[in-house]
Amino acid sequence: MKSKIAPSLMCANLLHLDRDIQALEEIGADYLHFDIMDGSFVPNFTLGPDLVKAVRRRTNIPLDIHFMVNSPERHLDLFDIQKGDLISVHVESTVHLNRLLNRIRALGASPAVALNPATPLFAIEEVLGDVDAVLVMTVNPGFAGQKLVESTLGKIKRLREMLDSKGYWETRIEVDGNVSFENAAKMRAAGADIFVAGSSSIFAKGMSIHEAAMKLRESIR
Ligand code: DX5
Ligand code: ZN
Repeated sequence: MKSKIAPSLMCANLLHLDRDIQALEEIGADYLHFDIMDGSFVPNFTLGPDLVKAVRRRTNIPLDIHFMVNSPERHLDLFDIQKGDLISVHVESTVHLNRLLNRIRALGASPAVALNPATPLFAIEEVLGDVDAVLVMTVNPGFAGQKLVESTLGKIKRLREMLDSKGYWETRIEVDGNVSFENAAKMRAAGADIFVAGSSSIFAKGMSIHEAAMKLRESIR
């Protein structure tokens, strides 16, 4: 599958967001990734529904909204989810996962299930038929700038095998966390095809978004 890039807006320059979005349009970003946090499922807060809506008015790049909140079903309506969006909810965050994924599908968006580094793959086995993508957290969620949890590389590989063996060849694997130029190549080799690009790549210090995008594309070709 052709690889896609999803720059993580929590790592953008929040005081020059318009300028960064312009650059992300120029490099042909496939999605804009929003981390939505609640201070409970993860120990941090970041972006919220008003910013998501404002960015949606500003650009045609599809949105990739990653809910790192407890009971995301309580908050979905705040986000004005649209056709073409990719919406991830964590298997650890809700009791009625199947219902929630179907609700996201009914809104016209692509549902994805996310899992933390410590969550085993069998936890998502029953919903593989309900999703367009699986988001593999490659760091513990909540903060940018963390180091890769190495065991997740093998997990990506096993997930690709599991999806293929069940006939889900079109289901994508998204990776999120320390997707550096170096790690991205390893993740690609393991079977990932959507890359959340944060402080480790697209927004790396000392490099423009254009330069970083070229370098990232090289490593995930
Ligand atoms: C984790 C976040 C991070 C971030 C990506 O909760 O989702 O993955 O946006 O950026 P870096 O490259 O800093 O891990
Ligand atoms: Zn994320």
